Amino acid sequence: KRLLPLLAGFALLLSACGREDLSTLNPQGPVAETQFDLMKLSIGIMALVVVVVFAICIYVLIRFRRRPGDTSIPKQVEGNHKLEIIWTVIPLALLLVLGVPTIQHVFGLAKDYSKDKEALQVKVTAHQYWWEFEYKDLGITTAQELIVPTGKKIMFEMTGADVKHSFWIPSIGGKMDTNPGTTNKMYLEFPKEGVFRGKCAELCGPSHAYMDFKAKAVSADSFERWVSAMKAPAKMPEDVEIAKAFEAKCLLCHAIGQENQGSAPNLTGIGDRQTIGGILYNSDVVADPQPGDKPAAQNLHDWIKDPQQYKPDNKMPNAAENGLTEEELTAIAKYLADYKLDYQSSGK
Ligand code: CUA
Repeated sequence: KRLLPLLAGFALLLSACGREDLSTLNPQGPVAETQFDLMKLSIGIMALVVVVVFAICIYVLIRFRRRPGDTSIPKQVEGNHKLEIIWTVIPLALLLVLGVPTIQHVFGLAKDYSKDKEALQVKVTAHQYWWEFEYKDLGITTAQELIVPTGKKIMFEMTGADVKHSFWIPSIGGKMDTNPGTTNKMYLEFPKEGVFRGKCAELCGPSHAYMDFKAKAVSADSFERWVSAMKAPAKMPEDVEIAKAFEAKCLLCHAIGQENQGSAPNLTGIGDRQTIGGILYNSDVVADPQPGDKPAAQNLHDWIKDPQQYKPDNKMPNAAENGLTEEELTAIAKYLADYKLDYQSSGK
C-alpha cells in the first residue's frame, strides 16, 4: 500500500517532463521504433529470467527450510550433469534470442547513406552550448532549429567544435557523440510533420542542461520554400543607425544570410524559431504556449541583455559589455523577432 503513492509519483515524474515529446517510450519513425523494439525484447528477457529465478529461489527456501527438531545434515550432492547442461543451454538460447536481432538491427541502423542521392546530408557541429546545422549540398547553414522534410533519410555527419557533446532526439532516435576532430555518422527519419525536441546528452560544461535544439519536420514543399528563403539575400534592419549597430556589434560573430558564416549561431529567420537560445520558448510560434513563454521580441531582448543569466559560461557578452544601448537593444530584438521566412503553408 505504501508503494502505491511512490509508484504514482514516479509515473507522474516520467510523464510530466514538460513538453512531452522528450521520450524514447513514444517512438516516432523507423529508427526510434527499431530501438524501442530492441529495448522491449531485452527487458522482456530480463524480466523472464528475474521472475523464474526468484520463483525457484523462494520455492527452495520454503520447501527445504529447517524444521523444528530437525538436526540431520541434508544429503550432500556433488555435480549433476543433467542440471549443468540445463543451466548452460537455457542462457545460451536466451542470448541467441537477444543477440541475433540486436546485431541485425545495429548493422541496419549503422547504414551509411552519405553517398545516397535520395538522402539529405546534414553536418552537425556541436558548440558550447548550441548546435550548428550545415546542409552541405544546399549551401545552407542554420542553428538551433534543424529543418527536415518528412519521410526522407537524413544522414548526419557529426563533430564537435570544442568539447564532447552528444546529439539526441529521443522520440526520433539516437543518440551519438559529437567529438572534436572526428566524424560520427548516423541516419534518422521523420515520419510526420511536427517539432521534436533534441538535447545534448553528454556533460559538456555548466550549461549542458540547457543545450537544447529542435528538429522541425515539414512537408517536401515547405522544405523547398525554406531552402530558397534561406538562400535569398539577407534582410538588414531598415533603420540605418540600427543596421550599423547590428553589423558592428552582432555580425562580428553571428551571420545572417549564407555568406561569411561566423563563430556564433546563424540568425537567418530566427523569428520562426520555437525558442531563443534553445530554451526560451516563443509564444508567437509554439502551438501550445505555456506559462512563462514570451513573445520572440521580449525573449530576444532579455537574452541579448544578459545571455549569461540563461546559459552560464556561453560565449556571448551581455549588452552592456557589447556597448549596446537600450534603444539599439530593443530595436535589434524587434528586427530579429520579425525576421521570418514564412515557408510553411499553415503559417506556423
Ligand atoms: Cu553539449 Cu552537453
